Amino acid sequence: MEDKNHIYPIFDRMMTRQDKEELLGQHSVMIWFTGLSGSGKSTIAIALERELHKRGLLCRILDGDNIRSGINNNLGFSESDRVENIRRIAEVSKLFLDSGIITIAAFISPNNDIREMAANIIGQNDFLEIFVSTPLEECEKRDVKGLYAKARKGEIKNFTGISAPFEMPEHPALSLDTSKLSLQESVNRLLEIVLPKVKSIV
Ligand code: ADX
Repeated sequence: MEDKNHIYPIFDRMMTRQDKEELLGQHSVMIWFTGLSGSGKSTIAIALERELHKRGLLCRILDGDNIRSGINNNLGFSESDRVENIRRIAEVSKLFLDSGIITIAAFISPNNDIREMAANIIGQNDFLEIFVSTPLEECEKRDVKGLYAKARKGEIKNFTGISAPFEMPEHPALSLDTSKLSLQESVNRLLEIVLPKVKSIV
């Protein structure tokens, strides 16, 4: 390990999160989706962003497939790579939050420890955990990317829900089962809890 002693952060001299929130006229918050592949996380995230944007609110989505083809393109799906995936995403999310931006993350983030780590990096008060609880059978039936079929044949190892675990969150702020709710219903439920947090002006 390299010596980390000679690092001098300048956070105390930079413009603050509050300065940025005032500039944007909004409060920032972290909206953290968790759920199986194909559960609807990205679809809901995109629809939510559109609704918030329409109301003059600035958002940033961080999504599994985008991040894994860029900043995290050296990571796979072992337990330790998933931890590192989520650690980096949480650190990047914090940069957006500190810029006053409503940050929306859509990652499987398959267990309580991983989500707890993300919440601790970001700050528990800013962290809204949303469980996209669409059952495995439904995700597998949809199989939008054809990955469940490959996982069943053993062509993909450590596939969440098939050959790697998914632990349900214990106390999510909201659960959304997309086999029961329309996209609009899911977004409406989200808006009910998100709007009061982001609009109460600074
Ligand atoms: S996480 O577990 O580390 O949070 P992440 O959300 O970044 O996962 O990536 C999940 C996406 O990667 C899935 O939606 C799917 O498209 C793809 N993927 C490829 N291999 C796997 C695998 N073994 N397990 C789960 N998802 C996989």
